[in-house]
Amino acid sequence: MAEFIDYSIKHLDSVDSTNNYATQLVKLGDYAEGVVIMADEQTCGRGQINNTWESEKGKNLLLSIILKPHFLPIQQQFMLSKVICLAICETNSEHIVNISIKWPNDIYIGDKKVAGVLIENSIMGSQIDSTVAGIGLNVNQTCFRSNAPNPISLAALTQTKFDIEALLHRLLENINKWYSILRSNEYITINNAYSELMYRKNQEAFYADSTGEFAGTIIGVNAIGQLIIRKKDNTLKEYHFKEVTFLK
Ligand code: BTN
Repeated sequence: MAEFIDYSIKHLDSVDSTNNYATQLVKLGDYAEGVVIMADEQTCGRGQINNTWESEKGKNLLLSIILKPHFLPIQQQFMLSKVICLAICETNSEHIVNISIKWPNDIYIGDKKVAGVLIENSIMGSQIDSTVAGIGLNVNQTCFRSNAPNPISLAALTQTKFDIEALLHRLLENINKWYSILRSNEYITINNAYSELMYRKNQEAFYADSTGEFAGTIIGVNAIGQLIIRKKDNTLKEYHFKEVTFLK
């Protein structure tokens, strides 16, 4: 029988970062799987690689979920990114088309970013002890001031105002679904769904790596979550995060 995450939601008015708050709970040992920290505002919202995450107060979905994926071999930790991305895509697809996942875990609509994911694992020995999965989904904000290259929101795309609480509940249901699939070790189902949604998959485009700019085609991700690009000369290159840049 499938096990489900028993969510308990803590809704904060303002916090530095929901990921910081959740990580603090983990450090204090004061947490259970399914604790969700949600905030109307973050004063120091964090993105990947020390970037900041912009969000106007009360306009977007900002949350962190604590998970305890003790069942997951450490080499499979990228699966957590995959299931969170799939849940966000599924939630968005109830409202909008043309959704993709820009490797490793940005959610795109067309060529614009609508959501970002910040997964922080704490490892104990050879096991993932806990995971804080932070999600920022741009919902009702229509003007972005930071220098993020290409932000967009659901409202800007649809000219509709969204109910943030309702989106949260759909998202949590979808996370439950994909996390149960992960718990059942159905890696093929997850890999196929992620692969099908990959931004620029099987399309020739331009990239840059340590050797310079080149044209290539994304063909997928490998078992440890590295991006695989086929270059013009048919060689395959595998990249860790930040080893390759997507060019326009
Ligand atoms: C990225 O695309 O760079 C990842 C962005 C992740 C932002 C979310 S908002 C909720 C949670 N708390 C944070 O400080 N960051 C994540």
